[in-house]
Amino acid sequence: MKTLDEFIVEKQAEYPHAKGALTGILSSIRLVAKIIHRDINRAGLTNNILGISGVENIQGETQMKLDIFAHETMKKALMAREEVAGFASEEEENFVVFDTERGRNAKYIILTDPLDGSSNIDVNVAVGTIFSIYRRISPIGTPVTLEDFMQPGNRQVAAGYVVYGSSTMLVYTTGNGVNGFTYDPSLGVFCLSHENIQIPHSGKYYSINEGQYLKFPQGVKKYIKYCQEEDKQTQRPYTSRYIGSLVSDFHRNMLKGGIYIYPQATTYPQGKLRLLYEGNPMAFIAEQAGGIASDGQQRILDIQPTALHQRTPLFIGSKEMVEKAQSFMRDYP
Ligand code: AHG
Ligand code: MN
Ligand code: MN
Ligand code: MN
Repeated sequence: MKTLDEFIVEKQAEYPHAKGALTGILSSIRLVAKIIHRDINRAGLTNNILGISGVENIQGETQMKLDIFAHETMKKALMAREEVAGFASEEEENFVVFDTERGRNAKYIILTDPLDGSSNIDVNVAVGTIFSIYRRISPIGTPVTLEDFMQPGNRQVAAGYVVYGSSTMLVYTTGNGVNGFTYDPSLGVFCLSHENIQIPHSGKYYSINEGQYLKFPQGVKKYIKYCQEEDKQTQRPYTSRYIGSLVSDFHRNMLKGGIYIYPQATTYPQGKLRLLYEGNPMAFIAEQAGGIASDGQQRILDIQPTALHQRTPLFIGSKEMVEKAQSFMRDYP
């Protein structure tokens, strides 16, 4: 059995010039995952984890107590590291500059969705944490600036997610394939359980909030109907599965084959999901596992961000399925 720690050290040894900065960042994210895991598992037993906080975030969403807790935990853990120069989160309006000598000399910035699937917290359904790591582009020795956070997803150095499901798993990529680690709470360690994950080229799951059907673009409506039609060769009708946590829906589709769509809708003209905290990291992981991610027209990772909390439509998962959905978007504009 190989632990996450051993795995990271082994990988680092393959790059003799690497100074281990990424190793340090991944260690703190691993710690954050353990803390959130612990608190989620006791959530029903205390009254300070579940429920709403009464505050709205910059997304216009009511923050859950756990949204804030996860955000603060991530921020503290990253601030404690010498490798991180700044961070941005779904739950905070502005990016945070780690403006100390250590922070100014650090090379990396992190973007995060600290708690994905907020609506599932109070009902004991799986939630997640998403992270994305970039090398800063502003000069070392100065405080980080907005341009460090506005890099396209194709510049990511690493990305990953934690899914707090029936077991807790950490899945990540550094651009050389995707590996998954399952948490053993009795030992307090993540163990390599899913080596070199590959998304099946096609699958039988489609995941979309069909309650919004009437608000979707024509191409998406037609694609949903396509998913429901009978066809032996492509194993249709597909099975509909929608948890309402991107991380969990994506994780299932990545292991089993499937497509996840959160399109633009009349209520969400740019889509709902955030490009920097959700779209880019999940797209990097999808591509590294042999899948694809698009906004319906173009590759997610090639989008030049223009705002920190920018939204994007997301079509992500098995290659053949996403390509098919894209063809419907082209044919029914
Ligand atoms: P978050 O909880 O981080 O705000 O993200 C919620 C996102 C995503 O996880 C999920 O797939 C989607 O919102 C669900 O939205 P709907 O309830 O509109 O389907
Ligand atoms: Mn949210
Ligand atoms: Mn989210
Ligand atoms: Mn969130």
